[in-house]
Amino acid sequence: MRRKVIAGNWKMNKNPMDTAKFMEAFPELVKDTSDEVVLCVPYIDLFKAMEMAAGTNVKIGAQNVHYEEKGAYTGEVSVTMLKDIGVEYVIIGHSERRQYYNETDESVNKKLKAALANGLKPIVCVGETLEQREAGITKDFVTTQVRLALEGLSNKEVAKTIIAYEPIWAIGTGKTASAQDANEVCVWVREEIRNLFGDVAEEVIIQYGGSVKSSNAAELFGMSDIDGGLVGGASLDPEEFSKIVNYNK
Ligand code: 13P
Repeated sequence: MRRKVIAGNWKMNKNPMDTAKFMEAFPELVKDTSDEVVLCVPYIDLFKAMEMAAGTNVKIGAQNVHYEEKGAYTGEVSVTMLKDIGVEYVIIGHSERRQYYNETDESVNKKLKAALANGLKPIVCVGETLEQREAGITKDFVTTQVRLALEGLSNKEVAKTIIAYEPIWAIGTGKTASAQDANEVCVWVREEIRNLFGDVAEEVIIQYGGSVKSSNAAELFGMSDIDGGLVGGASLDPEEFSKIVNYNK
């Protein structure tokens, strides 16, 4: 039985003071879940978030990472830097990074390898645009993204990789994929991983992301191949995000 991982992605929201306020309330609200709870916060909030998550079941992650260990890469943060301060998770290849910052399947693959080599738990994002969905190429596009992201990984590494299926048209739009449509793509992703790496596919956590809210979380997370979610806007409010985490209560 795969464990569910429910992660918040704050994107470019909240400063350390906002983070402290959030963390004063949130851990208490989710302390009874047996699922994995993660908050992926801006770099400047990592320290505050980790300090206040200590001794709770809330795990902290970053939203991006560079694949080189160190060097002349102004503005970037490396895997070892994140690891050294105790960060546990990292989002890789979010569609906003692919869209606005030239993130490619190749850089996603490099970042994923660097994260795994240093023991950071990666959440790799994939997902189609509305045009691609309407053109009927969702399966082809998403499974290709998955294949290129995982290229060169060992089975053991694949088992440690979380995939977040986030249809771009559902992100921040209030439009959620139906639970059936979301699950169908997650099934395709798992099939692709099975074709490439074998039975380890059964262990891979596949999340859904895109307008997840407390009102739709139970239905989405109840599907056969959706193992939790990556939550944007609704993760900014401790009450609302805790309701998503506690979807089965
Ligand atoms: P929303 O939940 O705001 O649609 O964002 C989803 C997302 O991009 C999470 O990474």
